[in-house]
Amino acid sequence: MTASRPVALVTGASAGIGRELAAILAREGHDLVLVARRVDELTALAAELKERYAADSRVIPADLARPDAAQEIVDDLGPSAVVDVLVNNAGFGGHGAFHKRDRDAELRMIAVNVTALTDLTRLLLPGMVERGRGQVLNVASTAAFQPGPFMAVYYATKAYVLSLSQALAEELSGTGVTVTCLCPGVTETEFQKVAGVEDVPLTKGPLSMTAQAVAEAAYKAMRRGKLIVVPGLHNKIGAQSVRFAPRRMILKVVRRLHPADH
Ligand SMILES: NC(=O)c1ccc[n+]([C@@H]2O[C@H](COP(=O)([O-])OP(=O)(O)OC[C@H]3O[C@@H](n4cnc5c(N)ncnc54)[C@H](OP(=O)(O)O)[C@@H]3O)[C@@H](O)[C@H]2O)c1
Repeated sequence: MTASRPVALVTGASAGIGRELAAILAREGHDLVLVARRVDELTALAAELKERYAADSRVIPADLARPDAAQEIVDDLGPSAVVDVLVNNAGFGGHGAFHKRDRDAELRMIAVNVTALTDLTRLLLPGMVERGRGQVLNVASTAAFQPGPFMAVYYATKAYVLSLSQALAEELSGTGVTVTCLCPGVTETEFQKVAGVEDVPLTKGPLSMTAQAVAEAAYKAMRRGKLIVVPGLHNKIGAQSVRFAPRRMILKVVRRLHPADH
């Protein structure tokens, strides 16, 4: 890593939105810390970012479902390491009736989507505040705006990310550190396969976005220090409309977007 380039740490950089965000950050002059489980993908990305943007990358393989993962990443970086931009992007979903879902998978989802994001932010924020500069980009979802029957834990994890991000953004005002929460709608990535929602009405619709378009919108919002970014007009309208619709009605509509058997 060169001393002159700011450093961005991106979790979930091996695929999808995280990969695109890492590429944009490299293009915009950052060196990278790339975190995920799949080392080969991270190593290939690091080589690509070097060649295309002369960015130096450090690959840190980590399973963020492990309780000590965030601390181990920070230990690996070393005490003198500076992280200017933290992108908490790693996450996954799961589909099915809550009482029948694999218990371990649900707990791992909370560990990655909630615990690791919180811990990594808690560990890296003091340095940012001390330096009087820093940017945190937390990836939630349009799922954050309402509960999600048959994807109940996933939606709840994203509501947590949205809530935490907004509270921290306010706490940090005046410190030079900003927190932005990205809330994408359906995006073409490996997410649908991992979550088991490739064939549900939600993802079969015509309104999915590319990971690159989502990442560009997120980067722009983060640079401006925006609080929340919902890429795509259809997603913006959806996120707003649930604020006024009756709760029971919202639950019935969301249930139909990804139905499952009891
Ligand atoms: N795609 C959508 O429709 C959509 C919509 C709204 C929000 N989002 C959110 O966007 C974020 C990125 O998802 P994506 O759509 O880009 O999905 P993706 O293509 O499946 O990428 C997910 C990334 O998270 C990493 N990850 C998953 N579990 C991990 C673990 N235990 N430890 C470390 N890294 C882990 C994966 O890396 P490894 O497998 O290599 O570990 C991968 O890099 C997620 O937070 C997701 O909830 C996605």
